[in-house]
Amino acid sequence: MTDRERTFVMAKPDAVQRGLVGEIVSRLEDRGLKMVGAKFMRIDQDLAHDHYAEHEDEPFFDDLVSFITSGPVLAMVWEGHDATRQVREMMGETDCREAAPGTIRGDFGLDLQNNLVHGSDHEDPGANEREIDLFFDEDELVDYERVDETWLYS
Ligand code: RTP
Ligand code: MG
Repeated sequence: MTDRERTFVMAKPDAVQRGLVGEIVSRLEDRGLKMVGAKFMRIDQDLAHDHYAEHEDEPFFDDLVSFITSGPVLAMVWEGHDATRQVREMMGETDCREAAPGTIRGDFGLDLQNNLVHGSDHEDPGANEREIDLFFDEDELVDYERVDETWLYS
């Protein structure tokens, strides 16, 4: 596999509280993406500010930090062909009300802030690696082959 890519994904506090973590993981697994890291954790203020630094001047920033620190999250790293863009497509539009049916946000959400899932922005080069580095040490990521990989890729 030549264009293997890793991306950062997070089941947000609302997904944890609503019991939708398994659903989110399942969709990514079913697609053929491979989980290579996972950490169930609570995000502290510093990490929230670092993770969402690009939004620090936005009027919604304080609400966003409050929300993302309000309960545990499942931080993950997923790998596969074109993984960053494909995960974003599977998440749907930021505002769940604009998200297409069949996407995670379009199937399970009705809100802008409580939108269940985060994925690295594929239009921001390096965002995936930056976010992976922020949440994971290198030795927390696991190299392995899924048994179906030879059938998943040509
Ligand atoms: P995320 O970073 O969480 O994966 O979401 P995203 O890329 O789809 O959206 P982004 O523009 O990065 O915004 C980050 C989060 O901020 C909240 N937001 N609130 N009130 C508002 O106008 C507003 N705009 C964005 C959302 O919760 C969004 O997920
Ligand atoms: Mg974003």
